[in-house]
Amino acid sequence: MGGDYCHPQQIYMHIELRNISHAFQLETGLLPVLQELSFTISKGKFVSIVGPSGCGKSTITRLASGLLKPNHGEVYISNELVSSPRSTVGMAFQNPVLLEWRNVLDNIVLPLEIVSREMPKAGRKQRARNLLKLVGLEEFEKSRPSELSGGMKQRVSLCRALVHKPEVLILDEPFGALDAFTREDLWQTMLTLKREESFTCILITHDLREAVFLADEVLVLSGRPATLQYKLDVSLGDNRKLTDLYTSQTTKSLAMLRNQIKIAQEKQINHEKFC
Ligand SMILES: Nc1ncnc2c1ncn2[C@@H]1O[C@H](COP(=O)(O)OP(=O)(O)O)[C@@H](O)[C@H]1O
Ligand SMILES: [Mg+2]
Repeated sequence: MGGDYCHPQQIYMHIELRNISHAFQLETGLLPVLQELSFTISKGKFVSIVGPSGCGKSTITRLASGLLKPNHGEVYISNELVSSPRSTVGMAFQNPVLLEWRNVLDNIVLPLEIVSREMPKAGRKQRARNLLKLVGLEEFEKSRPSELSGGMKQRVSLCRALVHKPEVLILDEPFGALDAFTREDLWQTMLTLKREESFTCILITHDLREAVFLADEVLVLSGRPATLQYKLDVSLGDNRKLTDLYTSQTTKSLAMLRNQIKIAQEKQINHEKFC
């Protein structure tokens, strides 16, 4: 124990959204997007968030990273109120947005140039190389982004999100544009990264199998204005395999999640009809 001691609450609540309500001002009036949304994520856990399109999932990623301030409620990371963008967060999106004038290694190193300026150049490159090896792209460090496939670009984007060892990794539909088999390869890569790097992860996805395969817990958001509608504990363990997705237990969980999405979609349609 000794030096490893942490306050028990810090271990338990690494990310906390407390009673969040948020609305966007449109020309036509206020659009309520999140309503009294609360959840916590323990340190080192991987949580998938699913919900109908337009219910507020990306808004949650912006709130959790400090890019957006909620109208009501608070976001805490490691018990600290999030009030501005945080360097201890890493993010990756559906569109990897790599810089074409930099090679793969230099794209990955970029966040270190911003948040770890004191780190020697050789150390930065070594860190990037270690990550490239984990995602199976060690031979592509000198390639330009345009020379990579969609799946490879997304691997590079994951390395870039993790290079500065963020406490929190936020992924907003990172595999959404990939074909089914490439996506499954990326899931395996994600499991490797989860095993080798230490981070707490929020994954936004539309793919229920992906949500279950990668996560310790799946949160279903209700239709807009979204609140927490349902929570599924995933008990596939650390050595999960793709075939685990086809067991009767997982099939039942997936059916349950699909039904929850249907309920959430109905709420959103009804809300749009009457507001
Ligand atoms: N900056 C903004 N200004 C106005 N409306 C926004 C803004 N950002 C998101 N919205 C609206 O808020 C709702 C939720 O958006 P978003 O969080 O992107 O949904 P999701 O990621 O679940 O599809 C959508 O109707 C979207 O059009
Ligand atoms: Mg979105």
